Amino acid sequence: MKIGFIGLGKLGLDCAEVMAEKYTVHGYDIYPRTSELVKICDTAKEMIDNSDWIFIAVQTPHAEGYDGSVPSSHMEPRDFGHDAVKDAITMVNKHASKPKKIVLISTVLPGTTRRHFYSMLDSQHQFLYNPYLIAMGSVKWDFANPEMVMIGTETGDAGEMKDLINLYRPLMKNNPRYVTGTWDECESIKIFYNTFISAKVGLVNMIQDFALKIGNINVDVVTDALAQSTMRIMGPKYMTAGMGDSGACHPRDNIALRWLAKEYDIGYDMFDTIMGAREIQAKNLADFLVANANGKPIVIHGKAYKPDVPFCIGSYSTLIGFYIEEHGLSVTYLDPLADNPKDVVESIDEPSIILYAHNRYITYGYTGQYTKDSTFYCDIPKGSVIVDPWRRLPDLTDIEVIHYGNTRTK
Ligand SMILES: NC(=O)c1ccc[n+]([C@@H]2O[C@H](COP(=O)([O-])OP(=O)(O)OC[C@H]3O[C@@H](n4cnc5c(N)ncnc54)[C@H](O)[C@@H]3O)[C@@H](O)[C@H]2O)c1
Repeated sequence: MKIGFIGLGKLGLDCAEVMAEKYTVHGYDIYPRTSELVKICDTAKEMIDNSDWIFIAVQTPHAEGYDGSVPSSHMEPRDFGHDAVKDAITMVNKHASKPKKIVLISTVLPGTTRRHFYSMLDSQHQFLYNPYLIAMGSVKWDFANPEMVMIGTETGDAGEMKDLINLYRPLMKNNPRYVTGTWDECESIKIFYNTFISAKVGLVNMIQDFALKIGNINVDVVTDALAQSTMRIMGPKYMTAGMGDSGACHPRDNIALRWLAKEYDIGYDMFDTIMGAREIQAKNLADFLVANANGKPIVIHGKAYKPDVPFCIGSYSTLIGFYIEEHGLSVTYLDPLADNPKDVVESIDEPSIILYAHNRYITYGYTGQYTKDSTFYCDIPKGSVIVDPWRRLPDLTDIEVIHYGNTRTK
């Protein structure tokens, strides 16, 4: 198999490297990239000449302010940007002298491939839509252990997808489901998968809000019982209340889906409700920190949207920070990796109230790598108060730990 990649960014490079363990993979990016496994090409033509398959993994960006790291539910809904995908298709048209199999893996809203991309591509090529269910921080593991592989074509004819399924089989470690459909169906599976997760996190965090208001409720007792109710509800993933849904994909996907709901005039906007709830849940947590600060500085342990990655895009920590600042208070963040250094500090030198946003076990436990996490990015001064939204931290000497969402008195 001769494979090519256009776009070697956060998703493309890791995926190309996994494929390069079994196949010859050439890659091209407009920015200089390096890899020991992928043959990096200086020109798009070189990559295209050396490839029968061309995976497009370029960005489909949201507009400024639409990633979920600050409130956006009051703003006009908007679609993602398509320019980079169109540039990639134009490159293929220009340089491909024989038929290629083009596989778009970038995230787009339902209907986009048919409306905007297919008519652009020279008809000699095959166009497949094949989005990934991958999260940053675990791209290679997620690639080889997906819940399913989605492959879409113009008509949904399963026969047209056999070659791509055969390409994937030797790369997969968990014998996943292969789901085939039209482009539009696969665009929908990918993006509504993310909406289910956002809604699920919104629901468990709603229970957390009620636990705080009503009292005598440990949110985990409620959500654990629901998580095991596999007859009617579903599996245990994303069933721990805590920080809200975040990152480069989920919030922005829902924010963009608000645009789609309007575009197709479906008459209601569930995405706005999910994202609006996410914002109020962040505000409730911010209000809780402010109410319990008693003059102490407020610190958020973790600024990136999750531990062990630098990305502050779509961060729930900064959304909470936004609402703390609305109280006229300042907030600082502890995070050695954060790619946005604003208000990030390396240490705390006085008793503070600290939101323990990052917990590796909660984020990466499903990979089997962590059994618990109670580590800190710096020493915590005596007399501090830690608000643990995951309710996993043990009692600490001279430091008060509040398990947010557990209002049981014993
Ligand atoms: N990052 C993830 O974990 C993830 C997971 C699932 C889906 N996605 C989706 O995958 C797509 C890519 O995401 P990403 O996070 O890798 O974005 P990214 O911005 O990190 O990477 C995109 C890369 O494409 C390159 N590029 C842009 N135009 C190009 C062109 N004409 N020719 C060659 N290279 C070009 C950019 O230089 C960049 O390196 C997006 O649609 C995203 O929503 C990402």
